[in-house]
Amino acid sequence: MSVTVVGSLNEDVLVTVGRLPGRGETVIGRAAALAPGGKGANQAAAAGLLGAGVHMVGRVGADPAGQRQRDALVSAGVAVDHVHAVPGVPTGSATIPVEDGTGENLIVVVPGANAELGVADVEIDVVRTAAVVLLQLEVPMETVHAAARVATGTVVLTPAPPRPLPDELWARVDVLVPNEHELVQLAGVDPGERSPAELAALARSVASSAVVVTLGPRGALVVPEEGRALVQVPPPVEPVDTTGAGDCFCGALASALAAGEPLADAVRYAVTAAALSTTGAGARGALPDDAAVRDLLPLLPAPVPV
Ligand code: RIB
Repeated sequence: MSVTVVGSLNEDVLVTVGRLPGRGETVIGRAAALAPGGKGANQAAAAGLLGAGVHMVGRVGADPAGQRQRDALVSAGVAVDHVHAVPGVPTGSATIPVEDGTGENLIVVVPGANAELGVADVEIDVVRTAAVVLLQLEVPMETVHAAARVATGTVVLTPAPPRPLPDELWARVDVLVPNEHELVQLAGVDPGERSPAELAALARSVASSAVVVTLGPRGALVVPEEGRALVQVPPPVEPVDTTGAGDCFCGALASALAAGEPLADAVRYAVTAAALSTTGAGARGALPDDAAVRDLLPLLPAPVPV
């Protein structure tokens, strides 16, 4: 069984700040560091470290940053034969201030070579035959759409950063994984506090597929195609940096789905992996292995019906 991730690879510039800046505001950071990132590559690294057989499909620049992104994936056990270098275009990058204490962040992405990932790049066997194909929206929409069309396995899409999705893409998605902010944008409704039942209704209004809404420290809401929605809370952790927690969630979800686990069990596994991933700096500073996740699973409360 295997997972193929089609998506972005970025070099992240992590800046620790006492408080996230507001619009038009200057704040002084404490430290800056480079780290491997990109929603696609983070998902692939998470699934790879959890032991899934993972292929990454993406583009980097023909530059040292691109080589660093490939090396980081290889060390997470991810096959990078389909990560191609584009001459004359820089590797994608992201600037990420991270707030001391809460671990919350802001992210500004410059796509670079990710914008060059084309339809022909995804019309390949590792997309066609994967048990699970993971998609996000930091590469061109027509490429995301083509990957979903070519896939014969389970298609999991994170609509991040949020963009309108073509109807044909909706039709091919098996599991949609937005956070609350992305769900609200997809639904075209006002932001604001919503109960799990209200979020489940919103999820059903935007998608006919299963939907898993990530809720940060409150865990995840599972909205199956049929039957009752459930909330699964995560284990308690002290977060250091929440960057990429959603990516780890998706990588872990894909890993469990590819191993044949039902959606609710896969979500239980994914909330645990994502919680552990927040205990280190950067998107991949604390990605867990399978044993670390399985150690905590018995301590999780049962999911709560909504
Ligand atoms: O989800 C976190 C990721 O978003 C970062 O690694 C950054 O590169 C952006 O893609």
